[in-house]
Amino acid sequence: MQVNMIINGEPKTLEAEAGDLLLDVLRRNGYKGAKKGCGHGTCGACTVLMDGRPILSCMTFAAQAEGHEIFTVEGLGSVNEPSEMQKIFVNNGAVQCGYCTPGMLLATKALLETNSDPTEEEIKRALDGNLCRCTGYVKIIKAIKEVAAAQKSH
Ligand code: FES
Ligand code: FES
Repeated sequence: MQVNMIINGEPKTLEAEAGDLLLDVLRRNGYKGAKKGCGHGTCGACTVLMDGRPILSCMTFAAQAEGHEIFTVEGLGSVNEPSEMQKIFVNNGAVQCGYCTPGMLLATKALLETNSDPTEEEIKRALDGNLCRCTGYVKIIKAIKEVAAAQKSH
């Protein structure tokens, strides 16, 4: 079957079998920022945004994305042209192995779109479903505060 969705602002029609997961279909089509960590909904490495809200693409059938807007980390920036948010994460040491990073960035984007000045508690709550085994979260939280401040100053 074919699934129609808007990915990072571009209309796309992707081939998928009935039981295919959104994560696998995205990765097959080159959106490899979404990572398969646990594969069962506990790590957040597969996070993408659907209509602006974080979802776990390992727990979502591709067919469920029909007609929706999907945003992946590729929509934020690239290695050669990173977004301000990505630069701030790197500059704060909030990226180590990088496996959790796409999910963290997308959770951050979703948070700051609804709350431009989050408290530390609100940041922690927003990252509740995103696990990081490297950074201890302190640097990630610091980076998110800096992203919020930078966005407010624009
Ligand atoms: S891979 Fe989806 S939550 Fe872990
Ligand atoms: S940077 Fe390695 S899991 Fe977060």
